[in-house]
Amino acid sequence: MHKTIVIVGASRGIGKAIVENLAQNSNYSILALSRNLKGMESLRKFKNVETIEFDLNSQNVRAEAEKIFTSLDKIDILINNAGKLVSKSFLELTAKDIESCYQVNVIGVIETVQAAVPKMIENGGHIVNISSMGGFQGSVKFAGLTAYSTSKAAVCSFTELFSEEYKDSKITMNCLCLGAAQTEMLEEAFPGYEAPVSAEKMAEYIADFAQNANQWINGKIIPVSLSTP
Ligand SMILES: NC(=O)c1ccc[n+]([C@@H]2O[C@H](COP(=O)([O-])OP(=O)(O)OC[C@H]3O[C@@H](n4cnc5c(N)ncnc54)[C@H](OP(=O)(O)O)[C@@H]3O)[C@@H](O)[C@H]2O)c1
Repeated sequence: MHKTIVIVGASRGIGKAIVENLAQNSNYSILALSRNLKGMESLRKFKNVETIEFDLNSQNVRAEAEKIFTSLDKIDILINNAGKLVSKSFLELTAKDIESCYQVNVIGVIETVQAAVPKMIENGGHIVNISSMGGFQGSVKFAGLTAYSTSKAAVCSFTELFSEEYKDSKITMNCLCLGAAQTEMLEEAFPGYEAPVSAEKMAEYIADFAQNANQWINGKIIPVSLSTP
């Protein structure tokens, strides 16, 4: 069955690997969104992938996203994968650091969903928010990640709130709290740490989850971790 899939944060790491995974299915039309078009250049080898510049840090994310979605008849799957991590000790954190994490990881996600809902309301669809074990209640926490991990916790909360508000619709939303996967973000935050899972392996799980899990679950916050971080 034809599906239109939007993946935000597709220029590297897990998001890029999700696009590469889903693009194998020629019935899918995929919109890959990120700030860095160059990072998405290699995705253009797939005929069913369109790469578009998109910044969750822009003034009006909702309007930007609406512009991008205008030409689409529908959206079946939206994966909010983009993430911003600031690692700084608590007293060194600036208001800008905190704001930038919340803008990209929370406000940008909420506004992207606002733009996507009209394209999902008729046929239904699955929204997958990518959070972190750091934002999962009761998990091991790490010094220096206040801005990042609290913003990821907010995305978990958003998932529960949205799915309650849309429980009578055909739109479902779930949230995956990822453990460590080997990407540039992880290397920048935890230099030298070797994750037990590659970006591709994590992407395989997320791609499968995004296509199937909403048959059984909605509004759930799920830890996806062999280890923490
Ligand atoms: N890797 C891990 O161990 C791990 C663990 C827990 C959770 N996660 C979460 O998993 C997701 C993917 O992580 P990753 O490790 O693959 O990260 P990554 O390598 O840093 O990739 C992040 C992606 O987000 C995009 N992005 C960042 N800021 C953006 C903005 N303002 N607007 C639009 N796109 C933006 C980046 O593209 P541009 O720079 O081109 O915009 C990039 O494609 C993130 O949400 C992260 O928090 C990762």
